[in-house]
Amino acid sequence: MRVELKHIHKRFGAVHANNDVSLLVEAGTIHGLLGENGAGKSTLVKMLTGFYSRDSGEILLDGKRVDVRTPIDGVRSGVGMLHQDPLDFSALTVLENFQARSRFTPSSGTSAQDLAKLAQQFNFKLDPNELVGNLTVGERQQLELLRLLSLGVRTLILDEPTTGISASQKTQLFNAMRTLASQGKSVIFVSHKLEDVEEVCNHATVMRRGQVMGNVPVKKGDPYLSGQLVDLMFGRELALPNKPATAQPEVGLHLKKVLLKGDNLSVAINDLQIQRGEVIGLAGLEGSGQRPFILACAGVEAPIAGQIYINNKDLTHQPYKQYLDNGVCYVPADRLREGLVAGLSIQDHMAIRNPAPGMFLDQNAMNAKAKSAIAHFNIRGTPNSKVERLSGGNQQRTQIALMPATLNLLLMEHPTRGLDIESVLWIWKQLIERCQQGTTILFASADLDEIMEYSDRVIVFSGGNASAPIPASHLSASKLGEMIGGKF
Ligand SMILES: Nc1ncnc2c1ncn2[C@@H]1O[C@H](COP(=O)(O)OP(=O)(O)OP(=O)(O)O)[C@@H](O)[C@H]1O
Ligand SMILES: [Mg+2]
Repeated sequence: MRVELKHIHKRFGAVHANNDVSLLVEAGTIHGLLGENGAGKSTLVKMLTGFYSRDSGEILLDGKRVDVRTPIDGVRSGVGMLHQDPLDFSALTVLENFQARSRFTPSSGTSAQDLAKLAQQFNFKLDPNELVGNLTVGERQQLELLRLLSLGVRTLILDEPTTGISASQKTQLFNAMRTLASQGKSVIFVSHKLEDVEEVCNHATVMRRGQVMGNVPVKKGDPYLSGQLVDLMFGRELALPNKPATAQPEVGLHLKKVLLKGDNLSVAINDLQIQRGEVIGLAGLEGSGQRPFILACAGVEAPIAGQIYINNKDLTHQPYKQYLDNGVCYVPADRLREGLVAGLSIQDHMAIRNPAPGMFLDQNAMNAKAKSAIAHFNIRGTPNSKVERLSGGNQQRTQIALMPATLNLLLMEHPTRGLDIESVLWIWKQLIERCQQGTTILFASADLDEIMEYSDRVIVFSGGNASAPIPASHLSASKLGEMIGGKF
C-alpha cells in the first residue's frame, strides 16, 4: 500500500508538533522515521492511524484521499499501529485477544486456525490459551501484529518497537517486517536507533522540531549513511562523551553488613564503600536485586539488617525525609508513575519542589522560574505544559531540572531509556558536572554500553548476588555479559 502524507500540520497549544510534514512511503518498502525526542514522530503516525486528528493536510492511501479520524477508521482504511505499550487485554487469552476486533466490538469471527496459520507465516510461537498477562512484551507485540493483519491492515506502523524485547524477538520482528514488505505491504518504523534503521529499512525520513529535515535511501553497508542521518537529526556532529575522573578521596556512601529484601530475593552486601563523585553502574537483568539496593540507599525501604552511611553519617532506619535533607535524590525509571505527577504542569512541579515561603504562591515568580528552567534545560514545552504531554526525553529533562541544587547521592534507574542520542549525551553531561561537584551517582541500566561508558566502577547483580565494584576499565562486554548471566 502506498502511503502519502501531504502538508500535515498539528499544533498542541503553542507547540507546532508537525509543521508542514510530507512523507511518501512506497508499497512494499520499510520506511524509517527518525528524530530526536519531541521531533514529532509519534504525533505524525498517530494522525495517520486516527489516534489524533490533524489540523490540516492530506492523507492519500494508494492514491486515494482518505479521512482517518478514529483508530477504527484507520484500521478500516488498512492502516494499523503497534504501540510501544501494547493495547491488549491482559486478562484475556491470546486467542480471545486475537479475535477482538477493537476495544468496543470484540470478536471478529476469526478462529484458532486463522491464528495458527498467521503465526506460522512469521514463525511466531504463541499458545492460544495462554493469558496475555503472562506474555513477554515481545510476544504481546507479535500477537498484536497478527491481530492487525487479520483485520486486513496493509500498512503497519511500529512506534519504537524494539525497547524491552529480547534480541531474538527483535530478529523475528525484523524478519516479519521484511515478509510484510515482500507481500507489497508497507511498514513505517519509528526509531531512535540508527543501527536498527540501517539494518531493516529501505528509506529513512528524519524529523526535527516538527519538520522533515530530509529523506535518504538506505543502502546496506553505506559508510556515509550514519553521518548523514546524524547530521539531519541534530544538524551537527555529536561530541563523543569522555568521562573525566571525578572520584574524590572521601567516602560518599558506605554500606556495612546490609541485608535487603526484594520481591522474590534477598541481597546481602558485606562492606561497600563508594567515593564521593564516583559513578557506579548497576548492571544485571531486571529484577536481580538492583531495585531493592537503590531503594535502600535512597531511604525509601529500610534494610532488614546492617548500616547505611552517607557522607559518614549513619542514616540507617532514618525516615525518608532525613535522606532528602542529607542530599539524597532518587530518580525512578517510571517517570510518570513515580517521578512526575500527571495532570500537573512544569510550573506546578517547580512550585511543589521549591515551596515559596508564606501562604500564597507567587504565580509570576513561579512562571519566571519555570521559564528559566525550560531554557536552561532545553525542555520542549511551556511552563503550563502538562508533564504527561511531554515526550519521554523532555520528561527526563524536567526531572533533572527538578533536582535540588546540592546533592550528595543521586540514584537513578534507566536514566536515558528511550531517549535519542543527543538527549543521552546532554543528560550525562549534566550528571558528570554533578559528580565534579562531589555528587556520588549510582545508576541502573539495561544498556551495557551506557554502563561501560559512564561508570567508574560497576556492580553486577544476578539473582540477588551483588558483585564487588569492578573498575569499568577492567571489564569487557563479554565479561560483563557472563557475570550478568550468573558467572561471577
Ligand atoms: N497530546 C499532546 N498534547 C500536547 N502536546 C503534545 C501531545 N503529544 C505530543 N505533544 C508535543 O508535541 C511534540 C512532539 O511530540 P512527539 O511525541 O510526536 O515526539 P516524538 O518525536 O515521538 O518524541 P520521542 O522520541 O520522545 O517519542 C512534543 O513537544 C510534545 O511535547
Ligand atoms: Mg514518540
